[in-house]
Amino acid sequence: MNSKASNADLAPEGLPRHVAIIMDGNGRWAKKRLLNRVRGHEKGADAVRGIVRTCRELKIQVLTLYAFSTENWQRPASEIKALMGLLKKFLTEEEQQLTKNNIRLEVIGQPQRLPDDVQAIIRQVRGATAANDGLVLNLALSYGGRTEIVEMVRTIAAKAAAGTLQPEAIDEALVADHLYTRHLPDPDLMIRTSGEMRISNFLLWQLAYAELFVTPTLWPDFSPEEFIAILKDYQQRERRFGKVPAQPES
Ligand code: FPP
Repeated sequence: MNSKASNADLAPEGLPRHVAIIMDGNGRWAKKRLLNRVRGHEKGADAVRGIVRTCRELKIQVLTLYAFSTENWQRPASEIKALMGLLKKFLTEEEQQLTKNNIRLEVIGQPQRLPDDVQAIIRQVRGATAANDGLVLNLALSYGGRTEIVEMVRTIAAKAAAGTLQPEAIDEALVADHLYTRHLPDPDLMIRTSGEMRISNFLLWQLAYAELFVTPTLWPDFSPEEFIAILKDYQQRERRFGKVPAQPES
């Protein structure tokens, strides 16, 4: 089904600016079919294409995908190699589409830890899409929320030690300015597939006020239609940011 067909009653003004997704369940998807885990990741890469397309069609500003965590380095070398290969294949195949569709690639995490050929294709696609001002496809690669916070603290502490920053000047905005996401709005909606009720070291600071949605669907089965249904649910929620609901004037 074309995702456009089912998004008719989504209010464009009430869409999240930034959607973040923990794409979980590739391994279980493969296991259920007695397939190698890598097949699950391959199907997962196909699901990514559909969700990127839907975000572009809906004019969502930022889509952050948790594609590889700092903890994922502890997986078997063969799985890491396959994931890196998939990432390279995805970026190589999608460069033209991203460029043509005004999508800008960004990366958060520690891309310097990735294999050289993956770093090279990231540089290539980031360069090719740098001037695009439509959807930002933000890939979290070798990303860990705690590592991000440690790096932020180190940078701020170094500035304080050098005397270029007064401790009193440290506030929420300054902290946010020293995170990987400094150029992006905080996520409004965080979706996790495969039913796990955890945030797994993902965007620890940035998710402070995000609406959370956990679906039992395994990532390779996550469709644009389900994504749109979640966006409809999001539009029904009242975001209060810790305040009381708006009262009519008496
Ligand atoms: C979690 O499933 C998923 C990952 C660690 C990798 C996500 C990667 C992709 C979706 C494909 C490549 C990415 C892009 C952006 C093209 P899991 O392996 O932990 O599943 P399990 O919990 O069922 O074992």
